[in-house]
Amino acid sequence: MGRTVVQITLIGLLLALASTLPNKDDWDIYSFHINSTVTSRYATTVITSRVANRMNESKEIEFHVRIPKNAFISKFRMFIDGQVYDGVVKAKEQAQQQYTEAVSRGESAGLVSSVGRTLEEFKTSVTVAAHKKVTFELTYEELMKRTHGKYELQIHARPMQPVRDFKVDVHIHEEAGISFIDVKGGLSTKALANAITKTHADKQAWVYFYPTVDQQKMCDSCGDQGMNGDLVIVYDVNRDNGLGHIKKSDGYFVHHFAPSDLPRIPKNVVFVIDQSGSMHGRKIEQTRIALVHILNDLAEDDYFGLITFDGNIFHWKQELVQANSKNLESAKNFARNIQDRGSTDINEAVLQGARMLNEHNREGSASILILLTDGDPTSGVTNLEKIQSNVRQAIAGKFPLYCLGFGFDVDFNFLEKMSLQNNGVARRIYEDSDADLQLKGFYEEVATPLLTDVTMIYVGGTNLTQTNFSHYYNGSEIVVAGEITDNNIETFTPQVVAISSNRRIIFSNPNETVESTGTVSDDHIQRVWAYLTVKQLLDKELQLSGPEKDEVKKEALELSLKYSFVTPLTSMVVTKPPGENTDVLHKPKEGETSQRRQFTGVRAKPVSGRGMLKFHHAPVKPPRFRGAVQKNARVPKLRVKSLDPSSHFPQATHAPAPPVPVSTVLPTTINVPWPTDVPLLHRFLINTKNQTVPLCFDVSGSLQLKLLHHPSEELFVNGELDSVVNGGFNSIFIHFQTDHHVEIDSRGVTVREGQTVAHHTGQDTITAGSVTVVVHNNKIHVTAGKMRLVILVHEKNGNKFLWPVLRKHRSADDSEGLLAVKPAVYEVVQQVPVTKLKIKNQETDVTSDSATDYSSDPPVTKNCWLMSADSALQRPLADFSVAQL
Ligand SMILES: *[C@@H]1O[C@H](CO)[C@@H](O)[C@H](O)[C@H]1NC(C)=O
Ligand SMILES: *[C@@H]1O[C@H](CO)[C@@H](O)[C@H](O)[C@H]1NC(C)=O
Ligand SMILES: *[C@@H]1O[C@H](CO)[C@@H](O)[C@H](O)[C@H]1NC(C)=O
Ligand SMILES: *[C@@H]1O[C@H](CO)[C@@H](O)[C@H](O)[C@H]1NC(C)=O
Ligand SMILES: *[C@@H]1O[C@H](CO)[C@@H](O)[C@H](O)[C@H]1NC(C)=O
Ligand SMILES: *[C@@H]1O[C@H](CO)[C@@H](O)[C@H](O)[C@H]1NC(C)=O
Ligand SMILES: *[C@@H]1O[C@H](CO)[C@@H](O)[C@H](O)[C@H]1NC(C)=O
Repeated sequence: MGRTVVQITLIGLLLALASTLPNKDDWDIYSFHINSTVTSRYATTVITSRVANRMNESKEIEFHVRIPKNAFISKFRMFIDGQVYDGVVKAKEQAQQQYTEAVSRGESAGLVSSVGRTLEEFKTSVTVAAHKKVTFELTYEELMKRTHGKYELQIHARPMQPVRDFKVDVHIHEEAGISFIDVKGGLSTKALANAITKTHADKQAWVYFYPTVDQQKMCDSCGDQGMNGDLVIVYDVNRDNGLGHIKKSDGYFVHHFAPSDLPRIPKNVVFVIDQSGSMHGRKIEQTRIALVHILNDLAEDDYFGLITFDGNIFHWKQELVQANSKNLESAKNFARNIQDRGSTDINEAVLQGARMLNEHNREGSASILILLTDGDPTSGVTNLEKIQSNVRQAIAGKFPLYCLGFGFDVDFNFLEKMSLQNNGVARRIYEDSDADLQLKGFYEEVATPLLTDVTMIYVGGTNLTQTNFSHYYNGSEIVVAGEITDNNIETFTPQVVAISSNRRIIFSNPNETVESTGTVSDDHIQRVWAYLTVKQLLDKELQLSGPEKDEVKKEALELSLKYSFVTPLTSMVVTKPPGENTDVLHKPKEGETSQRRQFTGVRAKPVSGRGMLKFHHAPVKPPRFRGAVQKNARVPKLRVKSLDPSSHFPQATHAPAPPVPVSTVLPTTINVPWPTDVPLLHRFLINTKNQTVPLCFDVSGSLQLKLLHHPSEELFVNGELDSVVNGGFNSIFIHFQTDHHVEIDSRGVTVREGQTVAHHTGQDTITAGSVTVVVHNNKIHVTAGKMRLVILVHEKNGNKFLWPVLRKHRSADDSEGLLAVKPAVYEVVQQVPVTKLKIKNQETDVTSDSATDYSSDPPVTKNCWLMSADSALQRPLADFSVAQL
């Protein structure tokens, strides 16, 4: 019966949402052009969208596009009724201030947010009078990065409706000559094949994509709303295998260096693989698969090592061994048998890896350390700065460290900083069906070292971007830009010194022919220099602290402003016709793709989103189920677990539910049949400090519980136990600082910031101030200040319920709640006739029982000592109840 009530309210909500959807015929995008010009691997793309308001009243019209994460927006303008409204790039703080004022006047902010692996979303809107038109024009710039021997220009086309005049024009001009060009991506399919024209001349190439309205509905990811997909232009340039290609213009130069006719250098590689409990399921499986592939790719003169770690370190072999077939077979066996377990001791694992490489000093080889992890350090040294300084000391600049962060629970910032400090890079591995291919793809980028200790020297050059590189890999490219002192081309002499196998080689071109773009004033190369300099300063800033950091930040900010780049330090302020909101657009920070992104707010007004509607007015609150609750509903027994807050990362797992039966993965667990006819009880688990069997207790009814209260951080997390569906919680509320509220139930997420409300049902990301919510598969990641919480959405017999897992929070004396319960310390003082445990000098009768640990995904069943809630919690259960979520 309770179920029926729920469904009715749900439909009510859907109706309420539907009524705010804009009428599809209100406005018409009659023209949509994407024009991308690539010169010397620097792409400048202009998106122009022309929209008409067909109604006889004014309408809010939205501009909503996706651009590559790597790009900087450099220009945005709107043309309305003969007027131009230019976006202005300002220092973020300054824009923020302006925005805050705008908010107090009841105005809204626009956003740039990251979507998926490679794209960011740009959104703004403007009110257009009856029968008037608006033109939106967005420009972004990016330096293409060569990987796997090619450049990829990604163009995302999603105009949100079929457009009569839809065009993508790409023009590539490379002085070195274009060796090949291909068109790929989801839009380059059969149905659209004849809409694509590709022309390839020696130094230039053109790609035109002009699909008809009918074709725009035909591609795989397209429909009535038109196209939604990528066009990826893949190309490479000819290589002379010497010094490479140098282009100069207006006193600036850019040097592309990518020789490929060199012998490969044998490598020494150590893989440090996280096998902590959180890797459980598909992640560890994909890691095994990728490792076996990677091992297969090692060359016979490579040496390698394999370390797996959780709270302990496991060496396949203590020393590096040669990659001969015998060793590889044995290593593959080891890899196939990696099991997830335990906590995460990143410090010791990386130090061991560094030790192995340091002990294996081989002339004429290239050493590489690769760390794969999916979580924060939880055992051994857990202080992030301490780990970083230990690692830096152990590596001492001798070889690069590459960090691969698997999934959303990693502290990517930490990994990125650690890699950058050791001449490497960090990569995110997305938890998806192709994670093994991502791992393999990354490995292939570093699989073939051709040079080590590369020093790029430019006599007569100044203000150079990075000039020293520890390794150069086949298929990649080194790019250096700078100024030519006094624009004196006579004295400008580029040279590259590097080690190839055992030889020191010098690349130079005695009869230098530096290509010059002539006398026409052209700031193109200067922009390349600025782009690269800003990117590198942002990386540098990440590694520094104190006044040095401020200095670098200041420099990056000045350049961003000078070249009008929207970087993590700047914002674009979009002014609109009088009486309208000012939008402030922020770029999410590098490496903070989805967890710590910031932008200043969510829109307060219903936004016409062509079926993309995400936000609605504040007073609409999702219905709550309390009225539908039956106190004694006969619902199966529930088991819930409380976490150890003293460790940042409980051993909870959070992989997507794999099809692996739990009992085959964890031989110590037992499967308990799901009881079908017991009163509704929620069973909680309490971890123990040094015993093997956890405690458990039951709570009946649909209590509202205090999960985590942290008054000094202004953080409050409450949950309501479900009494309709047979799981953990039906809703979880998070209140952060005075005006940030997140409400989560199994159907979606609602974020409030002041009077602004964003409701959210898909796989997506929303941010309000320092609160970020990422919905990814069956997980909802919430970051609020220093707290990271993952809410697992479990499904049992078709019913969904929520299960909170605390990943990180600042432990403080004033933290309270079920998630803050300390692990139990107990002793078994008597076995027969009844088992008695002694907890804090109090003896309690217990029975041996079992509980499902829902902090695991999939849940696992554990043995536990069952006792009353009050004994288990060492205080009355009533202390944990709250009157209001
Ligand atoms: C594309 O942009 C380039 C450079 O701004 C310009 O020369 C060209 O005319 C544009 N092409 C189209 C089709 O708009
Ligand atoms: C707008 O159109 C409606 C019907 O299409 C009409 O009733 C109304 O008078 C029009 N309003 C104006 C301002 O023209
Ligand atoms: C480097 O890559 C090129 C093609 O991209 C290939 O022809 C060459 O053999 C590679 N070099 C080595 C040492 O693998
Ligand atoms: C470039 O270098 C010169 C000195 O060599 C310095 O005066 C100037 O400020 C630098 N320009 C930038 C933009 O850093
Ligand atoms: C680059 O390497 C050269 C030679 O190895 C060294 O002299 C120079 O100091 C390095 N420069 C930087 C900026 O690290
Ligand atoms: C440099 O010039 C000399 C003669 O002028 C020529 O023989 C040689 O091939 C040239 N070298 C390069 C790398 O162009
Ligand atoms: C658990 O820890 C307590 C206090 O730290 C200690 O007294 C007890 O002996 C330990 N028990 C086991 C089994 O290690």
